[in-house]
Amino acid sequence: MTKASTAGTKTVLVCGGAGYIGSHMCKALARRGYAPVVYDNLSTGHGHAVKWGPLVVGDLLDPATLALAFATYRIDAVMHFAARSIVSESVRDPASYYRDNVVGTLNLLDAMRRAGVHQLVFSSSAAVYGCPAYTPIDEAHPCQPITPYGWSKRAAESAIEAYCKAYALSAASLRYFNAAGADADGEIGEEHDPETHLIPNIVAAALSGSEVRIFGDDYPTPDGTCVRDYVHVEDLCDAHLLALDHLSSAPGWHVFNLGSGSGHSVGEVLAACRARCNGAPDAAVVARREGDPAILVAGNAAARTQLRWEPRRSLTECVDSALRWHGRAQ
Ligand code: UFG
Repeated sequence: MTKASTAGTKTVLVCGGAGYIGSHMCKALARRGYAPVVYDNLSTGHGHAVKWGPLVVGDLLDPATLALAFATYRIDAVMHFAARSIVSESVRDPASYYRDNVVGTLNLLDAMRRAGVHQLVFSSSAAVYGCPAYTPIDEAHPCQPITPYGWSKRAAESAIEAYCKAYALSAASLRYFNAAGADADGEIGEEHDPETHLIPNIVAAALSGSEVRIFGDDYPTPDGTCVRDYVHVEDLCDAHLLALDHLSSAPGWHVFNLGSGSGHSVGEVLAACRARCNGAPDAAVVARREGDPAILVAGNAAARTQLRWEPRRSLTECVDSALRWHGRAQ
């Protein structure tokens, strides 16, 4: 069988490319002249978000379909977004988190080895750090996850690092803080079901005239609500492209925090939305959500200096692009 590829164009297998960040990544890759091929089981992703290349419907737990994807396309590199990512669900159902996030990643690594693919950009999370011992959190901060989700990401990282040392893999693990916002053109956006994240919940409440819940206002922060580091999804995609380039000039194992470096409280995010929506939505303070650290802010110096990454989009742009996307999707 002749492998499908275009001469001179690098083909990137995007696992989880039908999901929120993965679909934005495909658009960014295509814009930059890469050919994205999506591998996704569509359990949480959406077929309609796959617009920039072929879709292989498959599960990382299915090595035969995975091998077929590598056999069909001449894959040059892999970006791996496919994972379960709801922290509270991971506490209730750790088995599915270890299976999908850890075993799934091992299957992907083995398929890459067999196919002779040596470059991987991995979606990790600030959840690998657990409760911050200091802030901002840099990559030297101890990794002491407090949830199965965080452990599953940390375990996957540890396997990838070992494969880098033993099998000549080069990989960058990108530890996202709070991914937010949507495509500037409004073509794709955040479509989780159920939705647990703050900005889409605030925006949905503003657009539907309902009330958003604030999980606790008695934290040791300036306004009592949790502080997070919101990083625009398009800034995340820029970092992935830079990380992929970096692997060619600096082979081996790398870890980078991806956050804006600035913290915003839940109250500030609410105010940013209200400023755009005639004061909506209403909000009700309810009990703290279990496992929420008071403050999570990224130290992003490594990505800035080594990747020359510059997170350029503000919290307002996160809120505005989310409003455009959710308003359009209604
Ligand atoms: N929040 C609300 N109301 C909501 C939703 C969220 O008040 O309806 C609050 C949360 O309690 C938290 C903040 O808004 O204080 C942000 O919550 P998100 O659910 O949007 O994001 P998290 O900070 O919980 O999640 C992020 C990443 C995860 C990562 C986790 C680590 O999305 O991948 O940080 O703590 F695991």
